[in-house]
Amino acid sequence: MAEESSNWIVMVTAKSPTNIAVIKYWGKRDETLILPINDSISVTLDPDHLCTTTTVAVSPAFQSDRMWLNGKEISLSGHRYQNCLREIRQRASEYEDEKRGIRISKEDWGKLHVHIASYNNFPTAAGLASSAAGFACLVFALGKLMQVKEDLGALSAIARQGSGSACRSLYGGFVKWVMGNDVTGKDSIAVQLASEKHWDDLVIIIAVVSSRQKETSSTTGMRESVETSTLLHHRSKEVVPKRIVQMEEAIANRDFASFSKLTCTDSNQFHAVCLDTCPPIFYMNDTSHKIISYVEKWNQYEGTAQVAYTFDAGPNAVLIARDRKTAGHLLQRLLFYFPPNVDLSSYVLGDKSILQEAGVE
Ligand code: ADP
Ligand code: DP6
Ligand code: CO
Repeated sequence: MAEESSNWIVMVTAKSPTNIAVIKYWGKRDETLILPINDSISVTLDPDHLCTTTTVAVSPAFQSDRMWLNGKEISLSGHRYQNCLREIRQRASEYEDEKRGIRISKEDWGKLHVHIASYNNFPTAAGLASSAAGFACLVFALGKLMQVKEDLGALSAIARQGSGSACRSLYGGFVKWVMGNDVTGKDSIAVQLASEKHWDDLVIIIAVVSSRQKETSSTTGMRESVETSTLLHHRSKEVVPKRIVQMEEAIANRDFASFSKLTCTDSNQFHAVCLDTCPPIFYMNDTSHKIISYVEKWNQYEGTAQVAYTFDAGPNAVLIARDRKTAGHLLQRLLFYFPPNVDLSSYVLGDKSILQEAGVE
């Protein structure tokens, strides 16, 4: 392995953004491989805002695989971490650093232990898709470290085994997770529908209603919905396939009216499925409902859609404004109706220059 000493360390750092689904994934047909019951579409956020940074390292001095998440050691024994590590190790190829006299063969990668340190710059497990940014980043960083030569589609199928939504975070812009139909899951991968440049008028603002950890994780919530909600089965078979086609069209044509309608209705149906689950799951709270009513009224008043809203498995609002000017107005109104520390969030994550342009900061 090392020609002279065993004190060496090889490490790689990667950064991945989170993504927010506009047509939601909710429900698995295979729990171990993480195969979904419907296609989903998301938008990847700007990597400078909500993101995960992960450093992975190998050294002959490491005694076991270990991981620290936000500075606290966590167990890697769960099947999600184990599956990602195994899949990446199987695809590892030779590494050589002549200057340092380090050579790691394909077989060596199977014997060396990894240490992983990961940080989310936003609340973990609070419905802002930390599992998406987290597993995308982990798989990408491990792939780089272990010289994996596969394309992003193949890496997305590995990230999917960490957390379903993670497969979509390997690409920027608009991304579709194709559910696939193979039992091995090899065709259940993410594909990019359009790059971030395609529709760069859109501005995404996240109103952090609560950064508390949610009571029901996405994994548990969707398992219970699959077992008990009849609405979910109607949704996955009858509703989503049509919405996917319409959403792809809206994105291709930059048609904000259709995009907004589909995004809001799909979020509302997902939360209706949560209510249709036994026992019911409440991810949104009063403030989330007030934000929905407010945006609906605003759009109605204007006569054309200005802002779309969507909520993942938590109370935090993801608001998509049709352009920067509207985003400025939206921020002003949010801060007026939901002043920080009083009702809504204590902070708004996003492009702070919009605040200045709106004369708020
Ligand atoms: P969220 O809405 O934030 O995605 P989930 O319940 O889906 O919440 O997932 C939270 C879980 O994702 C965490 O408990 C942890 O297991 C995993 N996770 C979060 N951040 C990371 C990370 N940076 N690296 C690896 N795993 C992570
Ligand atoms: C509501 O990907 O977090 O955000 O696959 O069990 O890890 P697991 O669940 P996760 O679920 C995300 C659900 C959602 C919708 C979405 O992102 O499509
Ligand atoms: Co998640």
